Amino acid sequence: MPTIPFSQIRAGMALASEIESPDGRYRLPVGTILADSHLKWLRGWRIRDVEVTPETAGPAATGGDPPDQPGTPEETIRQRFSHLPADDPLVAGLLNLALVRAEPLAAVRPARPPAAGREPLPPVPTPEAILAADPVLVSLPEVFMRIREVLSDPGSTVEEAAAVIGKDPSLTAKLLKLVNSSFYARTLRVSGGLPPGAVDTLSRAVMLLGLNQLSTLAMGVSVLPLFKDIPAGCIDMRQFWRHSVGVGLVAKLLAVRINDPSPERFFVAGLLHDIGRLVLYKQVPAAAGASLAAAAASGRLLVEVERELFGFDHATLGGMLLRKWRFPESLEQAVWRHHAPASGDVPLEPSIICVADMVVGALLPGSSGERLVPRLDTAAWKTVGLSPADLPDLVETAEAHFEVICAMFA
Ligand SMILES: [Fe+2]
Ligand SMILES: [Fe+2]
Repeated sequence: MPTIPFSQIRAGMALASEIESPDGRYRLPVGTILADSHLKWLRGWRIRDVEVTPETAGPAATGGDPPDQPGTPEETIRQRFSHLPADDPLVAGLLNLALVRAEPLAAVRPARPPAAGREPLPPVPTPEAILAADPVLVSLPEVFMRIREVLSDPGSTVEEAAAVIGKDPSLTAKLLKLVNSSFYARTLRVSGGLPPGAVDTLSRAVMLLGLNQLSTLAMGVSVLPLFKDIPAGCIDMRQFWRHSVGVGLVAKLLAVRINDPSPERFFVAGLLHDIGRLVLYKQVPAAAGASLAAAAASGRLLVEVERELFGFDHATLGGMLLRKWRFPESLEQAVWRHHAPASGDVPLEPSIICVADMVVGALLPGSSGERLVPRLDTAAWKTVGLSPADLPDLVETAEAHFEVICAMFA
């Protein structure tokens, strides 16, 4: 096995023998894939050289770039697109737009997660068992259940809905801020006119968006606090919500573009589309960490690594959670099938989220753990009716509102 001097050790190398510091203390097991943080530790432990596996020794031994340290922002962008068909006009369009934004986007990709050792992965429970085991996810906020009741009762009035939502002041404040934002002004104008002045009461917000739409929005926003205690280390929550808000924003713009009569559910579906990952980070952090490390080490899509390691992916888990919470079915399906829109009966909703996820993964800041641009689903793009020529406008509009909406959530 090659022995590498400290000066040539790089992230991505796998240890072929365990590491002991000069004081005789056991430090790292065989099989550890070195991350940047390990390099600092190795220096602190005064390790002079390490034995690594031949497959991972190459780049440092030959003096080339290590696998996760491309030299320039442009190389970083190209690496994030490397698994996509470069000659596809949609991929080429996204890549061109990404290259123009190379500097800010180079920092989008999440830091390489700490490498898992080679201990066998603890058995991962089924999605049903994961969801049943979390008391927080089972006991929903009171306001959520009341809104759900209002939604399911065809006789509900505007006043009743406003009274239910108004019982939660922080939810009310968030909704009013959102409805009064320039993003809403723009999308409402497109879908039928915005009355002058601020939307300062919930009844007015209900009249503006419609009972159904405001209630769906309120349900989506009311569950976000359930995920505030995700352990640090697995995921950067700010980046997670930035990605989610970006997908919600682009999804709603796409829905408005095709004149969908209730585009609000697309904002909520985008906001919640990767919520299955939050459940994984919360409920099975070791397994979730192992999936992040394996995806980073292998350069594969995280969603594919999840399927291989767990037998299911975050989209399925998220969809099942929304079903358990009895969200409207179209929303549940949009989340469940956002990585495989053709697998359901109605491909429109999941296709919109799938396309928004790719656009945002390619061009906007934030990440739910995925380091690469999501896979191209040509059928989904066809369903949404978006061509490469439409991309610059769409992206410019999303960018114009992104930071303001993010500030309300992230
Ligand atoms: Fe996803
Ligand atoms: Fe996503």
